[in-house]
Amino acid sequence: MASGPILRLKGVSKAFRVGPRTLGRPRLLLRALSDVNLEVEAGTTLGIVGESGCGKSTLARIIVGLTQPDAGVVAYEGADLTDLHRRPPAVALGIQMVFQDPYSALNPRMRVGDTILEPLRVHKVVAPQEAPDERDRLLEIVGLSPALARRYPHELSGGQRQRVNIARALSVRPKVIVADEAVSSLDVSVQGQILNLFSDLRDQLGLTMIFVSHDLNVVDHLCERVAVMYLGRIVEEGRGSLLSQGARHPYTRGLASAVPQPIPGRRRVQPAIGGELPSPTNPPSGCVFRSRCPDVQPLCAEVAPTLDPMGPDHRAACHFPLTLRFETPGGRDAADDLTVSSTS
Ligand SMILES: Nc1ncnc2c1ncn2[C@@H]1O[C@H](COP(=O)(O)OP(=O)(O)O)[C@@H](O)[C@H]1O
Ligand SMILES: [Mg+2]
Repeated sequence: MASGPILRLKGVSKAFRVGPRTLGRPRLLLRALSDVNLEVEAGTTLGIVGESGCGKSTLARIIVGLTQPDAGVVAYEGADLTDLHRRPPAVALGIQMVFQDPYSALNPRMRVGDTILEPLRVHKVVAPQEAPDERDRLLEIVGLSPALARRYPHELSGGQRQRVNIARALSVRPKVIVADEAVSSLDVSVQGQILNLFSDLRDQLGLTMIFVSHDLNVVDHLCERVAVMYLGRIVEEGRGSLLSQGARHPYTRGLASAVPQPIPGRRRVQPAIGGELPSPTNPPSGCVFRSRCPDVQPLCAEVAPTLDPMGPDHRAACHFPLTLRFETPGGRDAADDLTVSSTS
């Protein structure tokens, strides 16, 4: 296949009708995603971060085909996947999801081995007589003993269950894995192990990964690229290091200042940003972040900023982006040492 993005989203929007049905009054329109544009290069890992409710799961579900967007295009290896009903089965298998809750994603009455055999059989990934060997191979790939195949989900730890879910996702040999808060419900000590597993699998199998998390430590740890979401929009996008250094959007800086510790799961993103998250049924005019922005100006209420280039491989949607100060301690690459100061 020619090089280029394996996954491309263009102008993807999704709204839900919410609130009570009252005669003569329309239900509220909740804009979960507004004009999302995104490209993911094959073999890379993209992190999607933002506070709870900003649209991360809706975006993940649209990518894997569980939700139909209202508008926009989702393309995989150049093929348009937007219409779920026309999504070719082979393509659907190419993009697999790993969910947050490793327990509810597994059938409690099915042995672990059968959970993995099922997609192998249904999708005829290998010949029937080879399926048990393939099952054992998949268990080993995710760091589990094939002896666990006879166990039921309730006999496993949370980390083991998530490994089973990952093995199941891998069984159909996908090219893209979308992990939605895949470590959020695990103990902090186990989170690191599962993150390492994802990173090993990516390297071994050449997977493309989209790692959705409200936890910046998780994304920082794993992702070479990151997209920051706020109220259904991507507000900044660039290299993974922009979270801790080099943020141009005040929201990203706010998120990043909540990540002092390198321990996954320790800090939540909320504390560093003041004010209330506006309702997605009634977002602010102009820039959606303006009601919480420390650098807000009158223009921000009038005009919505577009995602504009901020440098190589870096975009932000802000009328008054943070300025950067270049420092090169010890002769290191200047771009690795971007530090941020406010424009005002
Ligand atoms: N099926 C649905 N019906 C109505 N509202 C929904 C639905 N799914 C998500 N939402 C709303 O869309 C917004 C984005 O939700 P979600 O994508 O789950 O965000 P995140 O994963 O970032 O927490 C939230 O306000 C949520 O309440
Ligand atoms: Mg979510």
